[in-house]
Amino acid sequence: APHDLAIRGGTIVTASDRFRADIGIRDGRITDIAAEITGAREEIDATGLMVLPGGIDAHVHLAQPTSDGTVMADDFESGTRSAAAGGNTTVLPFAMQVKGSSLRDCVSAYHAKAEGQCYTDVSFHLVISDPTPQVLGQELPALVRDGYTSFKVFMTYDDLVLNDAELLEVFEVARRERALVMVHAEGHDAIKHMTRRLEEQGKTAPYYHAEAHHQIAEREATHRAISHAQLTDVPVMIVHVSGRDPMEQIQWARKRGMKVHAETCPQYIALTRDDLKGLNMDFEGAKYVCSPPPRDADSQAAIWEGLRDGTFEVFSSDHCPFFFENSEGTGKDNPRARTSFKWVPNGIPGVETRLPILFSEGVSKGRISLERFVALTSTNPAKLYGLYPQKGALVIGADADITLWDPTRTDTIRQENLHHGSDYTPYEGMEITGWPVRTILRGQTIVVDGQVVASKGQGAYQTRGTSSALA
Ligand code: URP
Ligand code: ZN
Ligand code: ZN
Ligand code: ZN
Repeated sequence: APHDLAIRGGTIVTASDRFRADIGIRDGRITDIAAEITGAREEIDATGLMVLPGGIDAHVHLAQPTSDGTVMADDFESGTRSAAAGGNTTVLPFAMQVKGSSLRDCVSAYHAKAEGQCYTDVSFHLVISDPTPQVLGQELPALVRDGYTSFKVFMTYDDLVLNDAELLEVFEVARRERALVMVHAEGHDAIKHMTRRLEEQGKTAPYYHAEAHHQIAEREATHRAISHAQLTDVPVMIVHVSGRDPMEQIQWARKRGMKVHAETCPQYIALTRDDLKGLNMDFEGAKYVCSPPPRDADSQAAIWEGLRDGTFEVFSSDHCPFFFENSEGTGKDNPRARTSFKWVPNGIPGVETRLPILFSEGVSKGRISLERFVALTSTNPAKLYGLYPQKGALVIGADADITLWDPTRTDTIRQENLHHGSDYTPYEGMEITGWPVRTILRGQTIVVDGQVVASKGQGAYQTRGTSSALA
C-alpha cells in the first residue's frame, strides 16, 4: 500500500547523528526511511529543514488546583495547544495527590480534565503528598503497574513537603515497584528560616524570593535526596536543577557510581535572579518567581557545561503558568502577594518557548550540538519516562511524531504570538534563531507556521513502560 504521507528532502536529526533521508508514514507510524520515497498520498517538502523527533516536555503543570485560590492559567486545552505550537508532540503533566484523598481518585480527576481536550499526547507523573500505608502499600503499586511509572516528591512547600522518614519510605516503594522517583530538592526549614528573617527586615518584594530560596538550601536538599537514594538503592531524578552548587552534588554522586539523573530548565539559562528585581525592586519581579529561582551568570555557565557533558539528561520547561494580573485577583498580582514574596504563586509559563530557547541559545550559538538538543528535549525524556522507542525516536515502527525545524528563521518572543493562557511571558523580547515550522502528531499535522490546525482531542493518553533508569 502507498504511504499516507512522505516527508521529503529534509535532514533527519537523532540523538546520535544526522543524515539526508525521506520518511514514509502509514497509519500514524513511521514505515520507511530511505533516500527517495515517492508515490505517497500526501507529500511535505522539508527541503532546508531539520526533521526532529517531536519535542517531549517531561515537566509541565496543567490545571492543578492550588490551596490559596490562585488559578492556573492553563487547562489541558490551552496548555497542550501551546505545547504543540512550540514543537512538542507529548507532554507529561502531574496528577497531584491532595492530602487526605485517595491517589487513585486524584488521578481519575486529572483524566477527566484531560479527556477530549488535548492537542498533544499526554501522560501523567504522580505526585505523592500523603504517603499513608494505604497509598504506599496498595494504590501506588497498582498505579505503577497500570503505567504511571514515575512520581514526584517534594522536600518543600507546606502542602507537599515530605520529611526524611517519608522520603525513605517512598524511595523504597519506587525501588520495589521499579518506578522513577523525581525529587524537588529544596530544604524546607532553611527556606522558612530565611523567609522569616527577610520579612523581619521588611524585605518583602518579589526579589527576596530568590534569597529565601537560596542555592545553598537547594544544594543541601539535593545531597540529602541523593543520600536517601543511596541508602535505599534506588535511582533518582533531581528535577529543575538551578545552578552550580546542586550540580556539584550530582557530579559527586555520579563519580561514586550512584544512579542520579538530572533535569534543568530554560529559566536557568535565560533568566537570572536580577530579573526578579522587576523595574526597580517592584512587583514586576513576580513575573519571574519560580522555585528554585534563577541564579546568576556563573550558574548559567555551569548549567551549559552540564548540558554538554551529560550531567543533565533532560531539558524540560517546568511550565507552571499563572496570570500576572486578572480581573478576579487570582493571579500573581494579588493583595496578599503584595504583602510578601512568600505569597507570590511559584511558577512561570514556558512550554511553548522551551525548544526555541534551547535551540537558539544552545545550537545556534554553538554551545551544544544539534544531536545533543534532540537527546535533551526528546530522546532522553522518552527513555527515562518509559515512552521509548514509540516516542523520542525516528525509527521504523515508531509513532510519526515529528517536528520540522527551520534553523535560520529569526523572530522575537512576543506574548501576542504565544498560545498559552498566561497574560505574559518571562521571555518577552528575546531574539530567537531557529523555530519549529510544523508539528506532526502520529502522522497528522497539528501546527503549521504558528497556526494550530488540529482539533482538540487529537492528543491521546499514553500508558508508559519502565524507565530506562530501572531497566
Ligand atoms: O515554581 C515552580 N517551579 N512551580 C512549579 C512546581 C514545581 O515545584 O515544579
Ligand atoms: Zn518542583
Ligand atoms: Zn542517566
Ligand atoms: Zn514543576
